[in-house]
Amino acid sequence: MKNKLFPTRSFFLLTVAILGICSAANAADVVHYSPIQKAWFLETGHTTYVVGVNENGELQNMYWGKKLTRDEDLAPAHSNPEWASFDSSATTTNLEYPGWGDRLYTEPSLKVTLADGVRDLVLKYDSQQIEGNTLRLKCKDIKYDLAVTLTYRVYPDEDIIRKSSTIENHTNQVVTLESAQSGVWYLPRNEQYRLTYAAGRWAGEDQLQQEPIRQGKVVLESRRGNTSHQLYPWFAIDKGGSDQQHGQVWFGALGWSGNWEMVVEETPMHQVRVTGGYNDFDFSYPLKPGEHLDTPDYYAGYSDSGFGGVSNSLYRLELNEILPDHEHPHVRPVLYNSWEATEFNVDEAGQKMLAEKAAKIGVERFVMDDGWFGARNNDHAGLGDWVVNRQKFPNGLGPLIQYVNQLGMDFGLWFEPEMVNPDSDLYRKHPDWAMNFPGRPRSEARNQLVLNMARDDVRDYVFNAMDKMLSENNVKFIKWDMNRHFSEPGWPEAPVAEQKEIWIKYVRNVYEIMDRLRQKHPGLEIESCSGGGGRVDLGVLERTDEVWTSDNTEALDRLKIQEGFTYAYSPKVMMAWVTDVPNFNGRSTPLKFRFLVAMQGSLGIGANLNKWSPEDSDLATKMISYYKSVRETVQMGSLYRLFSPREGEFTANEYVARDGKQAVVFAFLHSQQFRNPMPAVHLRGLDANAIYRVKTIDNKLVETHETYSGSYLMNHGVEFKLTGDYDSTAVTFERQ
Ligand code: DGJ
Repeated sequence: MKNKLFPTRSFFLLTVAILGICSAANAADVVHYSPIQKAWFLETGHTTYVVGVNENGELQNMYWGKKLTRDEDLAPAHSNPEWASFDSSATTTNLEYPGWGDRLYTEPSLKVTLADGVRDLVLKYDSQQIEGNTLRLKCKDIKYDLAVTLTYRVYPDEDIIRKSSTIENHTNQVVTLESAQSGVWYLPRNEQYRLTYAAGRWAGEDQLQQEPIRQGKVVLESRRGNTSHQLYPWFAIDKGGSDQQHGQVWFGALGWSGNWEMVVEETPMHQVRVTGGYNDFDFSYPLKPGEHLDTPDYYAGYSDSGFGGVSNSLYRLELNEILPDHEHPHVRPVLYNSWEATEFNVDEAGQKMLAEKAAKIGVERFVMDDGWFGARNNDHAGLGDWVVNRQKFPNGLGPLIQYVNQLGMDFGLWFEPEMVNPDSDLYRKHPDWAMNFPGRPRSEARNQLVLNMARDDVRDYVFNAMDKMLSENNVKFIKWDMNRHFSEPGWPEAPVAEQKEIWIKYVRNVYEIMDRLRQKHPGLEIESCSGGGGRVDLGVLERTDEVWTSDNTEALDRLKIQEGFTYAYSPKVMMAWVTDVPNFNGRSTPLKFRFLVAMQGSLGIGANLNKWSPEDSDLATKMISYYKSVRETVQMGSLYRLFSPREGEFTANEYVARDGKQAVVFAFLHSQQFRNPMPAVHLRGLDANAIYRVKTIDNKLVETHETYSGSYLMNHGVEFKLTGDYDSTAVTFERQ
């Protein structure tokens, strides 16, 4: 963000001089400079990324893919010639961070208007800095004192590299940014590629899409103010034949919870490139002299073990580097949430009754959802008034929380901090706090308006209100919801030229509140929810411990939603509840099926426990106890998708613990047709020579030995006796 304390040029050059020279000496480093090629080599365990300076002084991508073993095999960077007079060298060369200027016709990384009206930007390499696994390359415009620092962070164990850029205005006039991207990734040229991504909508999130990449552009984006349920900020590109285990796949993911974009582009020269960063739709960001703007983190990697390899790389990144608990990882607790049981009808007695039942079946965290505050008896009123509703809780939340704690559970609470109902004390006092264009209508959705979180007074109000609740009550967990997208995103109090900064400042302030709350209340955990899976990205995951996957908790639908979700995001953060039937879409599946589906992520119960029979509660107790015996493997291990719910009537997923000591297979028959025989299930990721002890939850394995070798399980495979509709099972394999 704008910050006048950015390192000065002399500091920068001194660091370059000290660190740059040292780095050139050691070619085995994760990041090293090769003076022969005038290039930087970024090495992960299995991949190499190379960027060099070409004969024009431009930064040029030279390679990205499977590991190279000798620097000198690569020729120094050299620009490509133009293709006739129509496609310039700027368009045919893989420029690492092209400014819009010269004759650039592909997607720019940066587009600006200077104070004198010039709209031409040509960036040339200026200096470098290497610091451990981080490389910084500075470029400058050929005339104006406008600089861009490209930052690369290498994650060697995860086979992932992170890019971002910092745009600095050292001129003495305002420079207006019209597109500010984090960077662009180039794939090997002249190949036929296929794009995989996830799309969806409310209650139908994360549906996988695959399509060939052809000349032109595919834009994945959000213009909605948050990440969105409609498209997800990640991509995977292969040559068409990859499966879960085999094939080369290049992939990337953005860490930004506001308007984002990824432009997948095949140029006329058959070069595929993927630009990503802030969405340039309705984007205008004036940088005053001395100010700078940081762009979002843009992660990318390469796998030669198919889509399974992609997912497991991303999980390692999330668990080892991104999630708030990455330094001291711990398993997610089993959670109960009252929403589907009570909706807005919460009160002390009712919540206590549910809490007692939840504790009995093994729940570890009790969460009270919407309805506890202000005049919140339905979705027409109360949002913004974060004070306890004294009709529902005459003695405040203290007695309920103490009761929950005495039952051995910690307590969580729902907030929707960014919203206001027109029928609320907050709106009556501060109607100007909702984003708006004066004199224009304000569109309501779910009877609510969006607060202008870009305003610092709004940010402070929200922080203080939440902080007060957390300081006065033993709340260990927040479910942070957001149930509509932006509309009429006006900020009339800001100077006209700065009003579009709302798209960025809003998100920064939301992040800041989360960060400050966590800092002030150590141990606090947060769930990112946006009417289901509307805010899931690598930016929010730096400050939230889990995400709500979808308001659609129907188990068969969930198999597909969860499959799409886990392409990019770890099962550890994927909240999955067991709820009552008939569900959202009218379908009724057995309780065991619902449990096993939900146990493939971070388990929660969202059912009305008052309606459960003793048999239901017994089954739940057994399932939760089983889940606790495998959850570390599910949440922190590797996932192997054995049978996809998109491809037939049978789904099977296998999770293998990081230390290889445990594997667990979940198997589901959706609906049997023609008594089709069950397929053999070949496990993966085991030690062929090791012996595994089999533990089934219900003897649905055809095989009856107590132990099997890894080679048998992987090569011969096992069969399940599943029949009829919605039959399911789980089997654990413990290495001896
Ligand atoms: C939407 C969430 O996704 C639900 O789980 C629930 O918290 C409701 N909001 C409450 O209004």
